[in-house]
Order: sequence, then structure tokens, then C-alpha cells
Amino acid sequence: MAVDNASITEVVLGGTRGGPDVKTLREDKWWKLPLVTVLGLSAFVVYATWAAVWGDSNFFYLPHNIISPFYSPCLAHACKAAGDTGSPVFDWWRLSPALIILVFPLGFRMTCYYYRKAYYRSFWRAPVACAVQDARPGYTGETRAPLIIQNIHRYFFYAGLVFNVLLTIDAVQGFIWPTLHHQLVHGQYVTQSGGFGMSVGSLVLCVNATLLWIYSLSCHACRHLCGGQIRSFSKHPIRHKLWKFVTPLNARHMTFAWCSLFFVAFTDLYVRLVASGTITDFKIF
Ligand code: FES
Repeated sequence: MAVDNASITEVVLGGTRGGPDVKTLREDKWWKLPLVTVLGLSAFVVYATWAAVWGDSNFFYLPHNIISPFYSPCLAHACKAAGDTGSPVFDWWRLSPALIILVFPLGFRMTCYYYRKAYYRSFWRAPVACAVQDARPGYTGETRAPLIIQNIHRYFFYAGLVFNVLLTIDAVQGFIWPTLHHQLVHGQYVTQSGGFGMSVGSLVLCVNATLLWIYSLSCHACRHLCGGQIRSFSKHPIRHKLWKFVTPLNARHMTFAWCSLFFVAFTDLYVRLVASGTITDFKIF
């Protein structure tokens, strides 16, 4: 078969990806994915920053016991005043309580293997796409500072599991409503006999916790924890079972990363709209 010399790209080991002279020979819309990633991640960062830094009211709706995942465990006086007693209050902390909490889920996402690929490609543009020239020369990988810190991902994975447990407890508590006697809640007097109840908000918290668990279980560090560093699965049947369970999830890690990211922001928004009285959290029973 004849080879068209014009279609051959010279490969230079240690050289610039995409070639030194031409940015790329690709004619497809390779830039679409980095662009969508920039838009998606930027939207989340803008919203989450606003919610964490300036949104420290309306993150909790007492009658239906639903709390924003950005503010759980609740370390603010607002929760204590409303009756929550599950966590300590940091009196000395003058900034938004969400800032104490978000360090861990944020660290988990920032060091995630998928998100690393996503923001290296879309924000740093190194590498931006296969066979496309890097925006900056001298890519050194993650073998030295500052990117070597990405290797602590597995520890953020453990911290993420703790938060998954806390948010699961929140989801369960979203079905246990307090008794209120003409109590002022966000500008309205509420009376209700407490007990087991279900609202749309209870379900939103459940879906949020489920998606976060699936995201964590599909993590590469989780898969390694289940099946890594063993020579023979036949000698470790339980780990083999766990590895077989998480491997199909791991194959869809990117999907779960996006779904859980957007749903956690949606959950915060939902609680906020309910707590501020903008929408009603419809009672199912
Ligand atoms: S690799 Fe994405 S959360 Fe661990």
C-alpha cells in the first residue's frame, strides 16, 4: 500500500507534542471536549464558591430536616438554634462554616485521576488533546512539585468516605421530621407534629448520597484497594469479589464524576430555594 508522505507526522522523543512547527494536523473538532469541560467546571466553581463563601444562610430547612451537603456536618450556630445537635460548633470560626468542610471533598475532586485529566487538558492545555501541540513546552508530569502532591489522592479518598457516611446520615434524617409548635422558620410560623415523613427534599438528599457513594466506589484508588498488590485472586476470594464489583463502576468513573458533581450543586440549590421560601418542598406523605 502506498503511503502518503504528507500524512506522516515525525515523532521526536522528548519533543513537543503535535510537532514543533504545526499546531496540529487534526481536522476534527478536537477542541469541543476541552471547551465543554471548561464551561462545566467553571460553572460549578462559580456556584460552589458563592454558596460556600456568601451563602451561609438558608442552607437548612428545619421542618423537613434537610441540609445542604456543602454545610454538613453543620458547624454553624444556625443549625444549633434550629435544633441540630449532632456536631460541634466552632465558636472561634468567623468565616462561612462551609469553608472548613469543603477542603476535603474539594481535595478529593481536585486530585481525582479523571478531573486531573480534565483540567490539565481544558485549563492548562498540556496536553490539550491527542496529536495537538501543548500550549506550553516543558511538561514535567506529576513527578515533582507542585503536581507530585496529586499522589495524596488515596488519603482524600478515605476522607471522602467519611463525608459519604455523614451525608447518608443526613439523607436518613431527612425522613425524620421534628415536632414544631408555631415556630418561626425563615420568616414563617410552622406547626407540625413530628415523626416519619417524606418530601421531594428527602429524595433529593438520597439521590445525592447515592451518587457520591457510586463516585467514590468507582474511584481508581478504591479499585486498587480492592484488588491491587495481590498476585493471585484465587487466594483472596473476597477481594476478588470486591474488585469485580467496583471494576465496571470504575469504567464509568467519568460519568459518575460529572453526575455527582452537578447533583451536589443541585442539592445545595434545592435546599436553599426551599429554605428561603422561593419554592415549596412538596410533602409526599
Ligand atoms: S480517581 Fe476519581 S475519585 Fe479517585
